[in-house]
Amino acid sequence: MNQNILVTGGAGFIGSNFIRFIQNHQPHVHITNLDLLTYAGHLENLKDLPLPDQHEFAQGDICDQDLVESLLREKEIDTIVHFAAESHVDRSILGPAAFVQTNIVGTFSLLEATRKVWLQENQQNEEQVRFHHISTDEVYGALGPGDPAFEETTPYSPNSPYAASKASSDHLVRSYGHSFGLPISISNCSNNYGPYQFPEKLIPLMITNALNGKPLPIYGDGQQIRDWLYVEEHCEAIWKIIKEGKVGENYHIGGGNQPANIDIVRTICTLLDEADLPSPVLPHSKLIEYVQDRPGHDWRYAMNIKKIQDELGWSPKHTLENGLRKTIEWYLKNSSWLKAIQKRQDYQNWIDDNYQKRGKA
Ligand code: NAD
Ligand code: TYD
Repeated sequence: MNQNILVTGGAGFIGSNFIRFIQNHQPHVHITNLDLLTYAGHLENLKDLPLPDQHEFAQGDICDQDLVESLLREKEIDTIVHFAAESHVDRSILGPAAFVQTNIVGTFSLLEATRKVWLQENQQNEEQVRFHHISTDEVYGALGPGDPAFEETTPYSPNSPYAASKASSDHLVRSYGHSFGLPISISNCSNNYGPYQFPEKLIPLMITNALNGKPLPIYGDGQQIRDWLYVEEHCEAIWKIIKEGKVGENYHIGGGNQPANIDIVRTICTLLDEADLPSPVLPHSKLIEYVQDRPGHDWRYAMNIKKIQDELGWSPKHTLENGLRKTIEWYLKNSSWLKAIQKRQDYQNWIDDNYQKRGKA
């Protein structure tokens, strides 16, 4: 098992980091990467892979069940790691339909393909195949100030169309395990950051805007809390679950770093100030601007990761400052990657749609 892996969404942020992680640590694994290349997917993210011959790219939609079935047969896939999704909460508020299509219908279509090829045609079992589904802490809704962190048994209570679509996909995956005996596992992870993250999410957006002398838009009062994990550690945890985790189970993954948004942005500004860059506006914190809040903005997420620590011996190691330093270094070194995205009309349109009509907070 775990010889021929189908990674969905491998041209996106976490998927491309996962492919690099596998190539650096598991050189025997052959990866087929199915990605539609939406606005969030870039082949640039896969340039200079350590083992290019062990990676095959297939452009296509996870909703295309025939295509997925043929990949499962032709590539003799024994493991699916399912990242492909619409992943940005703000986009789900401005246009939820794509989230229902990719996150729910797409996951359903992948599950149907595996049911047909793995279970019906090949009669494969949990010693031979695994469907690992990548999910989020957002399925649990929001925590208040004194609430305990989410546990694997916390009831789902999604608040955004993004979170609701991910919750639906989790339920579908679980049900295929329960009803059909499909060997599944699920991981729910907190906010990731690191190389190759598309500059519409908080951390890369703030780095990009600060370098360009553009406002740093803080939603509401900036006191919302996320639990931040350096992306490489997420990849490590996923691999551990696939190799050693129990079939049918879900595992929490989190970073144990829980600053308020405004504190994260201030830290980014300080780290950029220290880098002595020719930025148009210095110090960078002068650019901080409080803007109208996200509708239905979840106040706080936090993950209890005792299960993965106890059962699989995985724990995060990066401090947030450490991870942010590495991330900023990467964005500074890869300014051409960033510029290519910034130049695109669809990126400009997104920035206008999301920020232009927002008043000040
Ligand atoms: P991303 O938006 O950077 O990448 C998504 C990738 O999926 C892109 O390459 C895109 O082209 C591809 N894709 C989208 N629709 C597709 C379709 N219909 N068929 C095939 N490919 C398609 O997302 P990400 O941040 O890398 O997140 C990956 C997964 O991890 C998602 O499932 C997300 O819900 C989950 N997750 C993300 C975070 C985070 O902080 N980014 C945290 C927890 C969980
Ligand atoms: P984001 O990176 O979009 O991830 P998620 O919504 O999935 O947690 O946002 C992280 C936090 O930062 C969230 O509380 C919203 C906030 N935020 C801002 O304050 N300003 C911004 O421009 C963005 C994109 C996010």
